[in-house]
Amino acid sequence: MSAPGSADNPLRVAIVGSGPGGFYAAEALLKSGLTVQVDMIERLPVPFGLVRFGVAPDHPKLKQCTAVFDQVAQSSHFRFIGNVTVGRDISVEQLQSTHHAVLFACGAELDRRLGLANEDLPGSHTATEFVGWYNGHPDYRDRQFDMSGETAVIVGQGNVAIDVARILCKPVDDLRTTDIAAHALEVLAASRVREVHLIGRRGPAQASFTAKELRELGELNGCEVRVSSDDLQLGPVCLQELENKGNFNAVKNMETFRGWSTRSAQPAAKRICFHFFQSPVAIAGTSRLERIELERNTLTGLPFGQSAQSTGLTSELACNLMFRSIGYRGVPIPGVPFDAARGIFPNMAGRIGTSPGLYAAGWIKRGPSGIIGTNRADAVATVQGLLADLTELDARPRAGADALSEILGPHRPMVSYADWRRIDQEELRLGAAAGKPREKLTRVSDMLDLVKRSRHSMQPINIAQSIGSSS
Ligand SMILES: Cc1cc2nc3c(=O)[nH]c(=O)nc-3n(C[C@H](O)[C@H](O)[C@H](O)COP(=O)(O)OP(=O)(O)OC[C@H]3O[C@@H](n4cnc5c(N)ncnc54)[C@H](O)[C@@H]3O)c2cc1C
Ligand SMILES: NC(=O)c1ccc[n+]([C@@H]2O[C@H](COP(=O)([O-])OP(=O)(O)OC[C@H]3O[C@@H](n4cnc5c(N)ncnc54)[C@H](OP(=O)(O)O)[C@@H]3O)[C@@H](O)[C@H]2O)c1
Repeated sequence: MSAPGSADNPLRVAIVGSGPGGFYAAEALLKSGLTVQVDMIERLPVPFGLVRFGVAPDHPKLKQCTAVFDQVAQSSHFRFIGNVTVGRDISVEQLQSTHHAVLFACGAELDRRLGLANEDLPGSHTATEFVGWYNGHPDYRDRQFDMSGETAVIVGQGNVAIDVARILCKPVDDLRTTDIAAHALEVLAASRVREVHLIGRRGPAQASFTAKELRELGELNGCEVRVSSDDLQLGPVCLQELENKGNFNAVKNMETFRGWSTRSAQPAAKRICFHFFQSPVAIAGTSRLERIELERNTLTGLPFGQSAQSTGLTSELACNLMFRSIGYRGVPIPGVPFDAARGIFPNMAGRIGTSPGLYAAGWIKRGPSGIIGTNRADAVATVQGLLADLTELDARPRAGADALSEILGPHRPMVSYADWRRIDQEELRLGAAAGKPREKLTRVSDMLDLVKRSRHSMQPINIAQSIGSSS
């Protein structure tokens, strides 16, 4: 039997996940010149992964990639199957019986942990929970963040930490015209948080903020930024790192920090304070978070390989709210090898295991780093590997999505791309009424309700009442 990819035996690929990794892989497959059918399976009824649920609401331009994803979805060789979780509703083995290849682009949805006692004390949260909550992710919709205290701490110095700091410190009126979830807006409007401390275990030259995102913190209305000039005195190895031509982002960040350290203090309603060379070593409080203990570090190692070593010097920081923003790890799926230390599906250039058929793209392939665009080249490389394996795949024709519907049965409602468009239209309509670009539906039940009703009657429904309600 000839390799799949012809009109009489289309190459059927199941893509698990509908974030950038999944959509860029679908695009590469559809452009391959072969006859391909892509079935994209997504656990939520809505597509786009972290583009919808991660990218900050006040950064709408960064979501414009969804126009490209929309184009991909218009292909008659593409099918979106939302509201189906691989590993729960359908097994990997079943997918392998319905498709020639399975490509995982399921992201990295869990957090790394600090490994400290009291990490889950009330008041201590992950950035993931907070980001998911303000972006209307159904999993985090009902989380509660007590913002009645004045001081918040963010552990980690990457772009996610910056997003969290900015959302906490931006004047709430500047958020009202974004697609931030209504329930979050309500809580942020009443927030008493006025001081946010960003804690990094290494120095300012190692912080992984991108220069533009860092500078933006200094431009927030009513918010001052503080950095101690002592922390900006760099040792010889850090200076060597900054001399490297490829390290221009860190050079720009240093310029930004130096500018802030010499600014005279202005009266401001809110304040963001950077702390470097500090690791949290204890989280304390009787029934809820009251303070964290920090240990001062020094850096040891070669350029670009410097790690934080404790000096034994400790200090305390009183706080009411803490967000751990120290990176992500993937969620294992039964039937797929998992590297627990790195939190990824172990792979060789996207190929999982030794026999062809299972592939990975995006964060589950390489770990939680890189911006949206990084996932395009990454997914293209995986698809090239898949196409190179074509003659080694089991060539027997597969039934694809039709067989999936049979396996899932009538009790697992699947959401199509047309259904998503209906949800999209409703969100745009609700948004327009509220003076926002979009008002997201934040409950899976509301999404499925809307899909069901629109399929039957195509009549608009009134779900506005459930938006913003905390029940
Ligand atoms: C808070 C945050 C903000 C960010 N902001 C920006 C930004 O402003 N600009 C930028 O360029 N980059 C940003 N990034 C990075 C960017 O979002 C990622 O590079 C990108 O989303 C990774 O794509 P992915 O497809 O690997 O994963 P994801 O986008 O996470 O997509 C994974 C998808 O798989 C689905 N899924 C998971 N498990 C299953 C399963 N078992 N069955 C079916 N479906 C499943 C998930 O629901 C999700 O839709 C941000 C990241 C974070 C965490
Ligand atoms: N606007 C945007 O473009 C945007 C917005 C959000 C996210 N993103 C992207 O999404 C990716 C993920 O972002 P991220 O902020 O989660 O990751 P990140 O850039 O990897 O930052 C993680 C931070 O956590 C620290 N850390 C890790 N383990 C720690 C520990 N045990 N104790 C203390 N600190 C620890 C790291 O310090 P060390 O350096 O010492 O390890 C680092 O400061 C990045 O590529 C980012 O650029 C982009």
